[in-house]
Amino acid sequence: ASTLVVAPSILSSDFARLAEEAARMKNVGADWLHVDCMDGHFVPNLTIGPPVVKSLRKHTDLFLDCHLMVTNPGQWIPGLASAGANGATFHLECFCSEPYDINDPSPYVELKPEEMEEAFALAKETKALGLKVGLALRPRTPLSAAKRLLDEGLMDMLLIMTVEPGFGGQSFKENVMDKVKQARKQYPGLMIQVDGGIAPKTVQKAVNAGANVLVAGSAIFGAPDAKEVVDCFRKAWVD
Ligand code: DX5
Ligand code: ZN
Repeated sequence: ASTLVVAPSILSSDFARLAEEAARMKNVGADWLHVDCMDGHFVPNLTIGPPVVKSLRKHTDLFLDCHLMVTNPGQWIPGLASAGANGATFHLECFCSEPYDINDPSPYVELKPEEMEEAFALAKETKALGLKVGLALRPRTPLSAAKRLLDEGLMDMLLIMTVEPGFGGQSFKENVMDKVKQARKQYPGLMIQVDGGIAPKTVQKAVNAGANVLVAGSAIFGAPDAKEVVDCFRKAWVD
């Protein structure tokens, strides 16, 4: 991929001041806003859905990149599209009949053929709604599990989680970088997003591995000078 995208995650912003925070992010040079939608079921946290996206849409022209950490993304994507979202990224693991457990160390269970069909259908539906579509993998999910969907060329973006989804402020899992490298090698033109623990200290590793869409919550919103952090990310891309 030839361009860098910096996407602050509004999960770390002041939810009572979303319009101002969106404007501030635009001012400091953000390309997108990353919107973490959590249903309290796929992950143990509850955040944003279509009504908030609809309100936010009136206050910003930034690309709204919705990351769906939900059990049933098909239930929310049409509503997000009509609310004015620009992209929707769903997790491959949500199609898996085995329940998702953040604390469960067991390996990723491959999708059954009919579950894989559901993922294909949702990707097509999302595109038909005019959204960019992304596929997210949690840290333990291997790239091979996404091969069929990615080889088909259906996905605009692959989100490789660098923390377990659910909360901001966790530390970057460097061991995921091998997966980013594999993905970049196999899919040279694909947008590859990293999300979780991206900060001035870790960004170069993610960029070197091949990521071109950088999500950051606490590193940007927690900084005294958000612009400095965005600039530092851009520098990691150029250097
Ligand atoms: C985590 C979310 C992230 C989160 C990242 O489940 O998907 O987008 O906001 O936060 P930081 O950058 O603080 O790790
Ligand atoms: Zn996210």
